[in-house]
This record gives sequence, structure tokens and C-alpha cells, in this order.
Amino acid sequence: MNKHPVLLGITGASGSIYAKRFLSLAKKHGFAVELIITKIGEQVIKHERCESILKDCKKIHRIDDFFAPPATGGSKYLGMAVLPCSMGSLGRIAAGTSDNLLIRAADVCLKESRPLVLVPREMPFSEIHLENMLRLKRAGATIIPASPHFYEHPKTIEELADTVVEKVLKVFLNFT
Ligand SMILES: Cc1cc2nc3c(=O)[nH]c(=O)nc-3n(C[C@H](O)[C@H](O)[C@H](O)COP(=O)(O)O)c2cc1C
Repeated sequence: MNKHPVLLGITGASGSIYAKRFLSLAKKHGFAVELIITKIGEQVIKHERCESILKDCKKIHRIDDFFAPPATGGSKYLGMAVLPCSMGSLGRIAAGTSDNLLIRAADVCLKESRPLVLVPREMPFSEIHLENMLRLKRAGATIIPASPHFYEHPKTIEELADTVVEKVLKVFLNFT
């Protein structure tokens, strides 16, 4: 088991399966995962029939709890993945609003130079989305779009999702 847990942020973008697979693969790699999910994220994981994520994650922080450990740089987390990441949350992280625990935790990762991986899911991207992504990349975040690949001939939707999730995990594995 790795010493410090990884934060998983889930927003209201489509693609709950990415979060579900991240939880599963992160455990296999020995990472403890703590969850922060937005209000709309909770609705979307139900809509996409992935609400088992909530049972599978041992530690879930309330989205409005600014007293929770992820809100402060003094708490030791390895870093944070936001997947799937809505354009709304991405924009708020880029603007540094820190107006809910997920956005604040991402802000803390940037200020503490810890890995922050954002997995945006939208199409097409507007100029505003692209500018926000560029700003975040320049601030130290890693942007991994939810663009699965097919060259390993995935046979199931889980295998397809894993082509994205493995890229996300690699960032944390390279950091440990
Ligand atoms: C079923 C569903 C799917 C959505 N998919 C996306 C998406 O893929 N990308 C996105 O940026 N927003 C998507 N949205 C819109 C976001 O949920 C909305 O912008 C919300 O304000 C995001 O809030 P949050 O970032 O706090 O979770 C979707 C909404 C619903 C209801």
C-alpha cells in the first residue's frame, strides 16, 4: 500500500465508468483512494448505473466540507485525479475559485506541486474550454482527455475505459 492516498474527484460529466475503473485499478496498484463527488456527479453516476462507486470507496468527503483534510496543503495526499471532469469544474479549477471541496482540493494540488490529472469529457471543445486547459497545463496539471484507444482490441467497455484509466494511473505510479 502506498503511504499517501490519492484523491478521486468525480464531476457531472458523462463517463462514470472511468471513475469506477480508476477505483478498481488504483486498488490493484496499492493506492488508497478518497472520493469527492459533486452534487451533479452523484446524479450522473446513478443515471449511468455506476452508483456502486459510492459503496466501493471507503472514504468519501462531503463536497461542502472545507474542514476536510483535502482542503489544506498540510494534509498529505499523493495527488488528485478528476475523472470524468466537466467543463464547469475544469473552468472553476482554472479560475482558482475553490468554491467547493473538489475545486479547493485541486487548487491545493496545484499550489503544493502535487500531481493533478484532469480527464475532460466534452465534444466539441469551445475556445473557452481549450484556453482553460492550456492555462491548467501551464499551471502544472496533466490533461488526459477521455479518448480511449482501440489498438489493443478491447473486447469490453471496461477494457476500453481502462485504456484511459491506465494513462491516469501512470502519472501517480511515476510519482511514487
Ligand atoms: C447526463 C449528463 C451528462 C453530462 N455530460 C457532460 C459532459 O460530458 N461534459 C460536461 O462538461 N458536462 C456534462 N454535463 C453537464 C454538467 O453536469 C454541468 O455542466 C454541471 O454544472 C457540472 O457541474 P460539476 O462540475 O459541479 O459536476 C452533463 C450533464 C448530465 C445531466
